[in-house]
Formats: sequence, C-alpha cells, structure tokens
Amino acid sequence: MPIRLDPVQREHNATTDDHNSSPNDEFHRIVAVTDAKRKAEHALESVKRVIAIHSGKGGVGKTFLTCNLAYALAELHGLSIGILDADVDCPNVPKFLGLQRQLFVQDKKFQPVTHRGVRIVSTGFIKQDEKEPLLLRGPAKHRIAIDLLANTEWDALDILLVDLPPGTSDVPMSLLEFGELDGVMFITSPQKEAIIDTKKSIAMVKQFGIHCLGLVENMSDSLFGKDKGLAIAEEMGIPYLGSIPLSQEIFECNERGEIAFLLPGMEEAVRPIIDAVKGEEP
Ligand SMILES: Nc1ncnc2c1ncn2[C@@H]1O[C@H](COP(=O)(O)OP(=O)(O)OP(=O)(O)O)[C@@H](O)[C@H]1O
Ligand SMILES: [Mg+2]
Repeated sequence: MPIRLDPVQREHNATTDDHNSSPNDEFHRIVAVTDAKRKAEHALESVKRVIAIHSGKGGVGKTFLTCNLAYALAELHGLSIGILDADVDCPNVPKFLGLQRQLFVQDKKFQPVTHRGVRIVSTGFIKQDEKEPLLLRGPAKHRIAIDLLANTEWDALDILLVDLPPGTSDVPMSLLEFGELDGVMFITSPQKEAIIDTKKSIAMVKQFGIHCLGLVENMSDSLFGKDKGLAIAEEMGIPYLGSIPLSQEIFECNERGEIAFLLPGMEEAVRPIIDAVKGEEP
C-alpha cells in the first residue's frame, strides 16, 4: 500500500515521478541537475572532503564502516564530520546508531541531525514508521540522494562521509556522475560473490574518474577467510587497507549502537583506513 507522504517527501516526489522521458522531460532533468550543481557548490563550499563508502554486494558492512569512521574521526581525531545516508530506500544509519529524530527543513534547506557532534542526514529521519517502505522508483531515488547532498546546511566539515547503496545501480551512479565526490572507499566481505562484485564497483568508480582510496575487507574469520580482498585490490590497482575481523564483540557493539572503532586496541588496527579517509598515505 502506498505510504502517506509527509510535506518533505511530497515536495521531492512532485519533481521526481517521470518514467517515459520525452525531450521536454530531458530538458527539465538537465535544468534540475544544473540547479542541484549550483546548490551543491554552495552547500559544500565549506566541506573539505566528500568521501563515499561503497560495496559491490549488500550487507558487507558499509553502514558499520561509515558510522565507525565518522565517530573515530570526530572523537579520536577532533575532525568535523557529516554523514549522508544515501541509501534512500533502506536508510540504516539512524537504525545503526539507535536514533529516532526528525529531519527539519529551514529556508528550504535540510538541517542535519547532530549526534555526538556528527551531522547526519538520512531519509530514515523523514519516515518515522520503520515498517513502512519509502516507495520510490529509480529517478525519484537518485534525485532525492542528490537533493540531500546539495540541499543540506552542512556548514563547515572536514569530511562528509556518504553511505552509498550497494552495486552499480542508479543512486551510486548518479552521485558519482554528479561530480562532488573526492574519493570512494570500498568494503567487501571475503566470500567470492562479494569479491567478484567488488571488481565491478571499482571499475565503475574508475570509469567516472574518481579516486579509489582503497579496499577494506570486513568480516574476515577462519570460515570466510582473511585477506581475500588483497588480490582484488592488487588486480584493480588500488590500495589494500587491511581486514576487520568478524567478531562477536564488534557485532554486539553494533547492536547497541556503539562504535567498535573506539574500543581499546581497535585504533591501531584500523589506522590505514582512517589515514586513507583523511587523505594521508597508508
Ligand atoms: N566486523 C563485523 N563483525 C560482526 N558483525 C559485523 C561486522 N561488520 C558488520 N557487522 C554486522 O553485519 C550486518 C551488516 O552490516 P551493515 O548494515 O553495515 O552492512 P551494509 O553493507 O551497510 O548493508 P546494506 O547493503 O544492507 O546497506 C550488521 O548487523 C552489522 O552490525
Ligand atoms: Mg547499509
């Protein structure tokens, strides 16, 4: 059953429901993108770096990595950090962090939710009932993702982290094409399907000429394996940033909405990942 849209969503859908594109629609699409570009230049003018987290396959730890990087960079490195949850129809950042907040619009700009100093924008802050899906078709989805990037009052940020949906579909492609990303970090689990799909993701990002920061292997253990991502990173010519174990301690930390990268001993293990996001050589 279609969801009842609140004013924020209705405003978005009004400009987003086209499927059979005519030359006229195409003209409006170009005008909309140009307009979004202009807004993005303004919204991101005080944002030093925009870094996306991507994976070929779903469920391998993008949201875990995005949230953990955000709070480690903010609390251990004293940086101003934002998160854009670009997984617009399955927004997991608020769930991961255990946040139930409302996204406000002021002067036609989204005002990020601030949590422990991190500024977060997610469609999960628009729909309050987590059982109701946000029913959007392709064009609506990618325009909302761009709108959330370009139309938010980010203020001054050292790094804006973008949690992308998996794979090579509309939303990641649109955000790559939009041209505001400074780099993409990839994450995979050691299973062969995930590794194979990672190659496609890396190839896609390279096609857009965007810097590949490196590959993180997550959920490594004695069953799934360890350092299987190394060969792919070498084959694709990108840095390998190491592995994060599949661990009960990390899982329980995640379930509590806490940040595993802040656990004792973790900082050293994830240093190459942190350095890559900061733009420092591993
Ligand atoms: N290293 C780890 N050890 C234990 N559990 C982990 C680890 N990394 C992630 N998880 C758990 O695995 C699940 C999937 O992680 P996450 O939601 O971050 O994946 P995702 O790539 O964002 O998924 P999606 O593609 O659906 O957005 C979560 O329950 C998370 O807590
Ligand atoms: Mg996710």
